[in-house]
Amino acid sequence: MRRLGLGLLVAGTLAIAAGAEDAEEGLVTLKRQGGPADPPPAVFPHWVHRIRYTCYACHPGPIQPSATPLTHEVMAGGQGCGACHDGRTAWGIGFATCTRCHVAR
Ligand code: HEC
Ligand code: HEC
Ligand code: HEC
Repeated sequence: MRRLGLGLLVAGTLAIAAGAEDAEEGLVTLKRQGGPADPPPAVFPHWVHRIRYTCYACHPGPIQPSATPLTHEVMAGGQGCGACHDGRTAWGIGFATCTRCHVAR
């Protein structure tokens, strides 16, 4: 039940407009939706997540772009990546972790 609840929580912000995906590696380079060009765009690694969660945890409905932008303001509010990357469910968002998500490719 916990995963289902989480899915509903992140549903609004995770179905964001994806950038280019490297299908073979399951990596999705996310689109910058405001703010400075530096650091490089965040890269979402599907496989690291797929071995832990069902698709439904993040895609409770059809996989489609959402109007909600994915920004740090949104994540700090506990949505999108911030629903799990909060220092409890998964490692948190802070200066020690910038480059785990923002990877130059
Ligand atoms: C859990 C993953 C994650 C971590 C850790 C992370 N970011 Fe992000 N960040 C994102 C995502 C996702 C976006 C939206 C896509 C993009 O613009 O790259 C983003 C966007 C941004 C943006 C664009 C403006 C905004 O607020 O959306 C900046 C600037 C940024 N991050 C800087 C940082 C810095 C500096 C750190 C370390 C203190 C950091 N990020 C850590 C995932 C992360
Ligand atoms: C931990 C969260 C999470 C899980 C679990 C997850 N996804 Fe995703 N998925 C994302 C994110 C974030 C994106 C990139 C933004 C978007 O397109 O919604 C994405 C994008 C996608 C895309 C679009 C790729 C593109 O380039 O536009 C597909 C298709 C997809 N996921 C399928 C799946 C399937 C199938 C599963 C289960 C096997 C799954 N996802 C599990 C978070 C997840
Ligand atoms: C449903 C919960 C959940 C969501 C939502 C989620 N993550 Fe994760 N993520 C995890 C967990 C759990 C791990 C593994 C943590 C660990 O190994 O300590 C992880 C691992 C990662 C890693 C691997 C880092 C490494 O050390 O190799 C990256 C990168 C990452 N997440 C980025 C993101 C980004 C970007 C988003 C938003 C688009 C996101 N995650 C959304 C739960 C989530």
